Amino acid sequence: MSKYHIQGLEEYFQVYRTSVDHPEKFWEQIADEHFSWQKRWDSVLNWDFTKPEVTWFAGAQLNITENCIDRHLATRGDKTAILFEPNDPNDPAEHITYTQLHKRVCAFANVLKDQGIQKGDRVCIYLPMIPELAISVLACARIGAIHSVVFAGFSATALSTRINDASCKMVITSDGSFRGSKTIDLKGIVDEALDQCPSIQSVLVARRTHTDIQMKEGRDHWLQPLLDKAATDCPIEVMDAEDPLFILYTSGSTGQPKGMVHTTAGYMVYSAYTFKNVFQYQEDDVYWCTADIGWITGHSYIVYGPLLNGATTVMYEGVPAYPDWGRFWQIVAQHKITQFYTAPTAIRALAKENLDFVEAYDLSSLKVLGTVGEPINEEAWHWYNDNIGKKQSPIVDTWWQTETGGIMISPIPFATPTIPTFATLPLPGIQPALMDEHGKEIHGNQVEGRLCIKFPWPSMARTIWGNHQRYKETYFSAFAKMYFTGDGALRDATGYYRITGRVDDVIIVSGHNLGTAPIEDAVNEHPAVAESAIVGFPHDIKGNALYGYVILKETGETRNHNNLRKEINQVITEKIGPIAKLDKIQFTTGLPKTRSGKIMRRILRKIASKDTSNLGDTSTLLNPEVVEEIIENALV
Ligand code: WTA
Repeated sequence: MSKYHIQGLEEYFQVYRTSVDHPEKFWEQIADEHFSWQKRWDSVLNWDFTKPEVTWFAGAQLNITENCIDRHLATRGDKTAILFEPNDPNDPAEHITYTQLHKRVCAFANVLKDQGIQKGDRVCIYLPMIPELAISVLACARIGAIHSVVFAGFSATALSTRINDASCKMVITSDGSFRGSKTIDLKGIVDEALDQCPSIQSVLVARRTHTDIQMKEGRDHWLQPLLDKAATDCPIEVMDAEDPLFILYTSGSTGQPKGMVHTTAGYMVYSAYTFKNVFQYQEDDVYWCTADIGWITGHSYIVYGPLLNGATTVMYEGVPAYPDWGRFWQIVAQHKITQFYTAPTAIRALAKENLDFVEAYDLSSLKVLGTVGEPINEEAWHWYNDNIGKKQSPIVDTWWQTETGGIMISPIPFATPTIPTFATLPLPGIQPALMDEHGKEIHGNQVEGRLCIKFPWPSMARTIWGNHQRYKETYFSAFAKMYFTGDGALRDATGYYRITGRVDDVIIVSGHNLGTAPIEDAVNEHPAVAESAIVGFPHDIKGNALYGYVILKETGETRNHNNLRKEINQVITEKIGPIAKLDKIQFTTGLPKTRSGKIMRRILRKIASKDTSNLGDTSTLLNPEVVEEIIENALV
């Protein structure tokens, strides 16, 4: 029985049992049989969730790019590794073979070295979805530099916060980016961010939009001339299993974003293994994940997981609605996509449009459909299943997180029977637990609780960059000796899991995690604002949208409220990015507070969701009368 490739439900149950009964043997065999190592490990797993400290394959040495690229050259040199589909459908797609990818990654790695980047240095990558993004990620990994990709929709302030948190030495960016009919001035955003970033020594600029930009003498360099001069061979840097591979930021419920640190060997083994099984990838498949590499989904399932399996992975530069809502399906038909992985918010947006956009294209190449990022509602699931999969392609509803590095709970297509809205069963090696409010595990089925993981898995984040204490407090303190996910879940009669959503102050808007505290901080920076509270409310397409309750400093504020709303959203756009804009802003004279001064968000959430029939106990409030005022003026 091959443990690496699960085929069938019985086999899944057997493999799962082995992975729980003998986790070390299980992962050791996979690591031995499917990867190249410079040196084998001394021990498979060491762990202590109280510290918390976890190591996988300690003592081993390797380079992940040898496994992503070099290992395939002999057998797959001419196979397409990355298939780049540009924003403009009239521009040709680019097929980058494994041989070409090797050369381009090596040349890029040599440029990084020439610029003084060494093993352990942090490099910030702020690029659109163009091949240079994947190539620069791999080039960093080749020389042991730690990449920190920042999604190119983040604002200058958000970018500088992330650069400074990790003291990055370099930024890799482009002149601009194409998104549908828009051109975005990325370099301008970088310039603004870098006013605040003393650690940055150099900036590499890829040419994409030919926008007229400023180049700062001595700091900024056009990428292409440097690549043209660079040698196309670059030896790997030999890395220890637990050397950091990358940092990726995710929102917390409070404070600064958290720089999740992923290390080399465990991440490699787990991202490869889950890619193979969750997408049932076969040699000639053409796999497409529509995420951006700025998110964990893009790291694990556009770059690393697929390339580790010698797959063809599609990178799409544009947006679903350009030039029209048929664009995704046109790409599926054109490249004969076999696996298609997207977010529920995209599915809901596509489902609103005329079916003609779907029916114009031949989607018969599709074998597996996937979703990720937020709970998928039943209606969207059925639309996807009926119209895209034509009821022939299993849908994998994959639950996981930036922190988990890889997919944790998901059906295995053609093995696990699917049920809409259920992520179904844990993947091999994953031991979920549901916990009650007293910190006790809830056993048995047909139960609901807070979702924890009770045993380490290879690709778990090892720490928060520069703040191990926060890592411990956020993930290992709510429940003794458990990793706490921040999500609620239920387990049905058959043992299937359904994720019910966040149980903390993180709100998922269009699949993006947003912490309420940083948005409130941004709103409070507007000179007219005294205080604010932000909650989520259900939204047809975005899943959740943001509702802000704002107290103004002067009750007699004379400015027009609509202008103020625009200004507040402008501050949010500058501080965080347009994804965090508020859909609704209600001005109020007070916020419901407990006697200890905490805002009762539960009440605000209910009002924003038009659910005021049962507000629960408001008697403990300092100012119960304000609730009436808020309900009366609610924007619903
Ligand atoms: C949510 C994305 C329900 C969840 C890979 C999690 C989901 C957060 C699902 C992590 C799913 C992700 N069903 N909820 N299939 N997938 N989530 O870090 O709340 O961007 O904690 O990682 O998204 O988001 P992140």
